[in-house]
Amino acid sequence: MVSRVRVIAFIGLLLTIVWVGTAGVSAKRAAKYVGSEDCAVCHEDTHPEIIKSHANTLHSRAMFDAAKNPKSIVAVFGPDAPIKKADIKYVLGSGKVYQNYLDKNFRVLPAKWLVKEKKWVKQQAVDGLTQCVGCHVTNLDPESKKWTEMGVGCEACHGPGAAHADSQDPKDIVSLKNLDQKHLNMVCGQCHAVGTDLSGKYAYSPTFVPGDDLTKHFKLKDPAVGAANSQYNTFLGSKHEAGGQKCTSCHEAHGVNVKGPKQLRSPVNDLCLGCHTMKLGDTEAIKDLKSHAPDAAPDATCASCHMEGNSHAFKKASSK
Ligand code: HEC
Ligand code: HEC
Ligand code: HEC
Ligand code: HEC
Ligand code: HEC
Ligand code: HEC
Ligand code: HEC
Repeated sequence: MVSRVRVIAFIGLLLTIVWVGTAGVSAKRAAKYVGSEDCAVCHEDTHPEIIKSHANTLHSRAMFDAAKNPKSIVAVFGPDAPIKKADIKYVLGSGKVYQNYLDKNFRVLPAKWLVKEKKWVKQQAVDGLTQCVGCHVTNLDPESKKWTEMGVGCEACHGPGAAHADSQDPKDIVSLKNLDQKHLNMVCGQCHAVGTDLSGKYAYSPTFVPGDDLTKHFKLKDPAVGAANSQYNTFLGSKHEAGGQKCTSCHEAHGVNVKGPKQLRSPVNDLCLGCHTMKLGDTEAIKDLKSHAPDAAPDATCASCHMEGNSHAFKKASSK
């Protein structure tokens, strides 16, 4: 019985390989996704810390169904609110800095809510299905308008997991631990990048799966300074990228044991000084922030001067 299942699985694998070779979109559509709840069935026992932490990340809260999660809407609807609460079908974003809303036709409603400022600002009413949703859910099929789950689930990073969930064989899931630097950064870059798919129709790639070469699915665009989700654009070409760093050198993908903001492995200054107390290539050793930047504001971090506008180019700072 087992061997029969294996043979069928093997033929299936061959067919998948042929399929991958011939048609990008169908390869992703043919692959089976199960959703994070299924992963948790086993990994709650083997990796309880991953299951628990991931559920508390912003990744898990990147999109909501307004009817099922009315509390996910952080905006205040006063009498002069430019959009109607009743028109909201989907909520984009956990409500950290700003929040967007989609109507039942996936149109972005024409105002977004600024969380700290507690006010509405105008928003271009673009088509959310081609311009937004692909990075805020797992496995969007824009043709059928269906996805596996809302938010960035396990399989957004690990790839389709049905075969692995059946076999329990680690070989049936992309091993991100062992993925090389470029391809690992592309897993994050599928969403943390500004650009379009190769046709120009989508602001994300409907075809990329983890392990793929992102350049075969997605064209980068020069992002505006400080643009949302532009980390991969600015990181490429940085000395850190050239030196072999991964997004996960600094960020903990599941949020396990993070000691800094933004899922950083340590508070910003500790993180940077972890390497920069040594002389590295052309850069001089830095003893501490105070001696390196005596005029820095009391609450300044290394990022205040070297990551302006959240840039991941890690440029030398202009003195000021
Ligand atoms: C039926 C049980 C089961 C289910 C369901 C399951 N896994 Fe696993 N998984 C395992 C076992 C067993 C291992 C190997 C032992 C270990 O690493 O804990 C494993 C290993 C892994 C590994 C490590 C692979 C490596 O070599 O780096 C990853 C990643 C993983 N699983 C992700 C997932 C994801 C994502 C899902 C959901 C799509 C999932 N698993 C669903 C049982 C399961
Ligand atoms: C499927 C798309 C997708 C993938 C893949 C993805 N992210 Fe994200 N990421 C998002 C979205 C969307 C948010 C913002 C959610 C929100 O604020 O509501 C986010 C937020 C973040 C944040 C901010 C967390 C915070 O607490 O402020 C970090 C850091 C991050 N991602 C790092 C990564 C890294 C590293 C990888 C790769 C290992 C990755 N992401 C893969 C879509 C993605
Ligand atoms: C290529 C992937 C991608 C696309 C397309 C995309 N986003 Fe996002 N979005 C992200 C990522 C990654 C983050 C978190 C990182 C950041 O903000 O830099 C994010 C964050 C957000 C946030 C949360 C900000 C916060 O305060 O937490 C909102 C709201 C949002 N996006 C709305 C939209 C809207 C509206 C569109 C379409 C017009 C869109 N996104 C298109 C990837 C994407
Ligand atoms: C944002 C991307 C991302 C998401 C979402 C994500 N993972 Fe991972 N996962 C990674 C990366 C990257 C690694 C490689 C090790 C590392 O960098 O932490 C990894 C490693 C693992 C491992 C191997 C751990 C080990 O040390 O052997 C398991 C198991 C795993 N993930 C399961 C899951 C499950 C289950 C989920 C959903 C609850 C999930 N992951 C969601 C990126 C992600
Ligand atoms: C050398 C360390 C380092 C590496 C490598 C790195 N980051 Fe970051 N990242 C940071 C720091 C530090 C911050 C917080 C900056 C701040 O405090 O303003 C940050 C912030 C972020 C944020 C939050 C943005 C926001 O506006 O809240 C996201 C998302 C992110 N990084 C994604 C990525 C991705 C994707 C990669 C890989 C392409 C990556 N990072 C590589 C150090 C790093
Ligand atoms: C894992 C080690 C490591 C960490 C962590 C790290 N760096 Fe670096 N950094 C390097 C290396 C290696 C270089 C390149 C040295 C060279 O080739 O000249 C570098 C170069 C730089 C440069 C010079 C860039 C240029 O274009 O000349 C700046 C600025 C910088 N890092 C800032 C930071 C900041 C800020 C942080 C924390 C957010 C940080 N680094 C974290 C290893 C690290
Ligand atoms: C108040 C702003 C400010 C802060 C805060 C700051 N730096 Fe700098 N940093 C500078 C300036 C200015 C330079 C010199 C620019 C140049 O070399 O062209 C510099 C240069 C550097 C360089 C390049 C050194 C070289 O020899 O080329 C590195 C690496 C660096 N800083 C890392 C850090 C780290 C790590 C922290 C946090 C402990 C930090 N910086 C905090 C302003 C700052």
